[in-house]
Amino acid sequence: MKLRKAVFPAAGFGTRFLPVTKASPKEMLPLVDKPLIQYGVEEAVACGLREIILITGRGKSAIEDHFDYSLELDTILERRGHRDLLEEMRKISNMSICYTRQKEPLGLGHAILCARPLVHDEAFAVFLGDEVLDAPIPVMAQMLAVYERQGCSILAVQRVPREQVFRYGVIEGEPAGNGLYRVRDVVEKPQPEEAPSDLAIIGRYILTPPIFDILEQTPAGKNGEIQLTDAIRGLLRDQAVYALEFEGQRFDAGDKLGFLQANIVFALKRPDLGPELRQFLRTLRLG
Ligand code: UTP
Repeated sequence: MKLRKAVFPAAGFGTRFLPVTKASPKEMLPLVDKPLIQYGVEEAVACGLREIILITGRGKSAIEDHFDYSLELDTILERRGHRDLLEEMRKISNMSICYTRQKEPLGLGHAILCARPLVHDEAFAVFLGDEVLDAPIPVMAQMLAVYERQGCSILAVQRVPREQVFRYGVIEGEPAGNGLYRVRDVVEKPQPEEAPSDLAIIGRYILTPPIFDILEQTPAGKNGEIQLTDAIRGLLRDQAVYALEFEGQRFDAGDKLGFLQANIVFALKRPDLGPELRQFLRTLRLG
């Protein structure tokens, strides 16, 4: 069956980005002129995933407002003749999005479990909105092509420097050709010496429905949170799971440095901003 649903967990506290995330959702930080979460939602829609499920929490209502219809803005843009902006705003508010709340941030695994009543019994995609991916073919489209062949859970992975593996879920995998790995094990935030590889799980997943039953049984793990990686380990006992080393560049925009890098790269690509920004960067005479 074709995948239809995309789940966006967005209920985390964004502590790495304090103080701005104290009262504003991390997902609403701007990447040039669009909030981070919109890039993920557009990627999902471009891949044919038309049912978007957003997991929010306290203090996240700006996300719902962003995707809502604003009659006042619509009227003003129409009156002022800003046709292009009007069309762009309507495209955003026409996206079909369901919301549910994670009442306590008990971890990514728990956030995904909150989507169960909306996902029901079908495979679904997961997007972490603060992982910004710049790819020739949308990363989820690369993963869907694998899912169509394998029909099982698929994880997006990328090589990271060994000393940074403690920030990620890391896979142990057997190469299966064309950047694909049959996953044998997954470990959440290992120390470099215990990491089974340098292939880190990056914020895109395709998951099969048994993950929900496993999540129900998964106790809190690293950092006292219910970890998705621990539930994927449970899935591996009964099912094949593949990991795809995708083509593209990834920015962790939930981290201050990654966010700045993503903004520079995305702005440099924009015809309306790139040339002047490039010129400005040259004047900085970076060493
Ligand atoms: P992160 O660990 O990157 O997000 O979780 P965080 O907890 O918001 O940020 P830091 O680490 O404190 O800076 C990955 C994704 O999972 C969501 C986050 O919103 C983010 O999109 N998440 C995390 C939840 O929805 N609920 C949680 O309980 C934890």
